[in-house]
Amino acid sequence: MSQTKGQIVTLGVTGASGALLAQKALHLLVEDARVAKIHLVVTETGQRLFAEELSISSGDLKQLPARLLGKSSEKIEVLPNKDVGASIASGSYEVDAMLVIPCSMGCLSAVANGSCDDLVSRAADVMLKEGRKLVLCIRDTPFSRIHIENMMRAQSAGAVIMPAVPSFYHHPKTIDDLVTQYICRVLAQIGLPQDGMYRWTGSHSEAKKAEA
Ligand SMILES: Cc1cc2nc3c(=O)[nH]c(=O)nc-3n(C[C@H](O)[C@H](O)[C@H](O)COP(=O)(O)O)c2cc1C
Repeated sequence: MSQTKGQIVTLGVTGASGALLAQKALHLLVEDARVAKIHLVVTETGQRLFAEELSISSGDLKQLPARLLGKSSEKIEVLPNKDVGASIASGSYEVDAMLVIPCSMGCLSAVANGSCDDLVSRAADVMLKEGRKLVLCIRDTPFSRIHIENMMRAQSAGAVIMPAVPSFYHHPKTIDDLVTQYICRVLAQIGLPQDGMYRWTGSHSEAKKAEA
């Protein structure tokens, strides 16, 4: 872990469907006492997705966290995606983990092929070269051969490929149930297991619970 008290986490948001997932991740990271700092980077298309799917316009980017969370947080630093000279673009700056939620196929390709022409892809590239945790929450369907090959390249370089695929074994009733369980699984990947995460304990114990 970095020298600071608590984790330093980068949250990259790119232009794939699933703005709600990014909003939930930001919310849980802000509320998590184990997280000291969140660097938030949103691509241009990521901003467009917030507008399309959540009717949240970015306007002044610095105000985006408050619009997403309904309150501001001193933990969050918004970094412009064009600023490839920002702190997180260098390996000498210690980021503990980076999440890209949602991760577009374009961003996956940039990470898989080491072409870093924006801050999200450069920061992800740095995580891989420094052997740090990088989770790519890719979203598209169906996948082309190119997508699958890029997933394999990124995974073999150390990234966790975590498609935005919901689970149903926890009997979700609402979209929020689906989103929360998925994001809790993502956060568990970076050493931030959440109390709200459903943990499967086997069919036998589920049947027992139903009988009780
Ligand atoms: C409304 C909307 C939805 C999109 N959904 C996806 C998606 O689910 N997955 C994906 O890979 N690309 C999706 N795209 C296309 C990407 O946004 C596009 O490839 C973009 O160049 C990605 O750039 P970025 O990685 O810099 O955000 C979508 C675009 C728009 C406008």
